[in-house]
Amino acid sequence: MAYPSVMEKWPDRGPSGRIAYVNGRYLRHGEASVHVEDRGLQFGDSIYEVCRVEAGVLLDEQGHLDRLERSLAAIELPMPVARGALPRIMRELIRRNRLRDGLIYLQVTRGAFRRDHPIPDSAARPTLILTARTGDPAMAAARLAQGVKIITRPDERWARRDIKTTQLLPAILAKTAAKRAGAAEAWLVDGDGFVTEGGSTNGWIVDAGGTLVTRPLSRDILPGVTRAVVLAAAGEAGLTVAERKFTVAEAYAAREAFLTSASGAAVPVVGIDGRAIGDGRAGPLTLRLQELYAERSGGGLG
Ligand code: PDD
Repeated sequence: MAYPSVMEKWPDRGPSGRIAYVNGRYLRHGEASVHVEDRGLQFGDSIYEVCRVEAGVLLDEQGHLDRLERSLAAIELPMPVARGALPRIMRELIRRNRLRDGLIYLQVTRGAFRRDHPIPDSAARPTLILTARTGDPAMAAARLAQGVKIITRPDERWARRDIKTTQLLPAILAKTAAKRAGAAEAWLVDGDGFVTEGGSTNGWIVDAGGTLVTRPLSRDILPGVTRAVVLAAAGEAGLTVAERKFTVAEAYAAREAFLTSASGAAVPVVGIDGRAIGDGRAGPLTLRLQELYAERSGGGLG
């Protein structure tokens, strides 16, 4: 058991949950492992998903499974198990971890092979890993009510950001810079001064005319599952929405700004690069979208 000492020393840095799933087995974390030559480890040759659990219920499950299939297909990696088996595994992991509120992390790697860059010709043997992480509903609710500050950084990622790969170094570095600046997220900015998205969230603003603005889907951003739910909910509620690029200058001048992801639907952005957004508090449209999301996804608020 390698982990207990780590958890004693850094309680916030220990692994999440108690029971993990690896290739058909539910294991205690200390016993769960993958091969040293797993291509996920060596090359980042792997895809992941993060799904929110509220009151024991998985949110937006089909959207996450659709995107998983799409990402896997984009890198020629087969589904490790039949799609229909994944909800069963996720539910069993929720049950074994007694997870009420938190996140399920799912990762598929190409598996273990002798190290060589090209995709191996030999039969696929993907690795499927799932872990569970408990969240604090009170903290999540406070974040949704009070909002967060963010910074901007150059987008230094690769050109296929629509694929949810575990190759996350640029996001790690940008989000570390944010954390060190006392901020919760970094909005990444392309070479022309337009915001692509956050390090692990999609970005939105409400412009001077009250229009909800978010970048259109392309290879430049991840097609966020929460983004799609919020877009649909906003459309149904008759809100004016524009899928277009916006610049950092527009964001500074926005009435409201917010982030969407599985770890928080419509999290208000109250400051960007030290400038207050709107009146520096969660905006009314953002708060309305939180409600619309909660109605649609079947979950509660945070
Ligand atoms: N991040 N953009 C990026 C780059 C992301 O990594 C994520 C998700 C999103 C939002 O997607 P969704 O709404 O489907 O969660 C947008 C997850 C939560 C993560 O890496 O932890």
